[in-house]
Amino acid sequence: MIKKAIFPVGGLGTRFLPATKALPKEMLPVVDKPLIQYAVEEAAEAGIDEFIFVTGRNKSAIEDHFDHSYELEKTLIAKGKTEALTVVHDMIHKPGSVSYVRQQDPAGLGHAVWCARNMVHNEPVAVLLADDLILGKSCIAEMAKHYHGGNMVAVMNVSMDQTHAYGIITPGTDDGKLVEVMGLIEKPKPEDAPSNIAIVGRYIIEPAVFQTLSKSERGAGGEIQLTDALAQQIGKSAFFGLRFSGERFDCGSKMGFLQANVAFAMANEMLAPNLKKWIKDRYS
Ligand code: UTP
Repeated sequence: MIKKAIFPVGGLGTRFLPATKALPKEMLPVVDKPLIQYAVEEAAEAGIDEFIFVTGRNKSAIEDHFDHSYELEKTLIAKGKTEALTVVHDMIHKPGSVSYVRQQDPAGLGHAVWCARNMVHNEPVAVLLADDLILGKSCIAEMAKHYHGGNMVAVMNVSMDQTHAYGIITPGTDDGKLVEVMGLIEKPKPEDAPSNIAIVGRYIIEPAVFQTLSKSERGAGGEIQLTDALAQQIGKSAFFGLRFSGERFDCGSKMGFLQANVAFAMANEMLAPNLKKWIKDRYS
């Protein structure tokens, strides 16, 4: 059973400037919830009850988001707004179950994960990138169900001209759901890509990955890459990609973020009818 999850939120989010100048990208809302809350809820659905945030310099909004807001709660009680109060209370986790560690330099995803090493003991841990938002079943719960040791990543097929934006795997045995990972390359050009099977931001990693990360080897973009450390485990332990059943939105890009807002609103029965009508009237 996976009990802990790491949420790296130390990226600069340059594609969303100026919105992300003082606000972490993971606090951008899709409909009415920040990206990070979707990721935390997805992890909780998998039975995870320890949440480790690896933050950058602009961390306070995330800390505040998962903490009490006594003024707000008092006002909601006074006004009898019980529904809103429940929403706010539901986000508060057991004391001691949420921790924060600072990534002093945004030296890459691998570096961010390594910063959490002292909070993880000899156990597998989940890693969730909140800017990869999944509509549908909890992706990390699906992964945990199929996990039997070693390393696991969530994967999906992308078009060949998109390989440069993802970690791409060399597939081995493939039953349509679980695909064995025989090799891994970060952001290859289409002509160098071993397949079109791409990693999305959900991982279950074994303790040995932290040892590899501690070598601080720089990879693509001069950053310490998590995929490079995972690649070094190939042949030493089991490594599978799981084709998850939900739909993934790249909320690190403007287009993905906008699509996510439309798709999540359309999945909301209170919003969908009016939004559909408005789009139809205005754009068709
Ligand atoms: P991205 O590659 O999307 O980088 O990071 P970014 O800095 O967040 O965004 P852009 O490209 O400048 O717009 C992928 C994930 O890894 C985390 C990010 O927070 C995001 O969830 N990350 C990345 C870190 O936590 N630390 C890093 O040093 C780099």
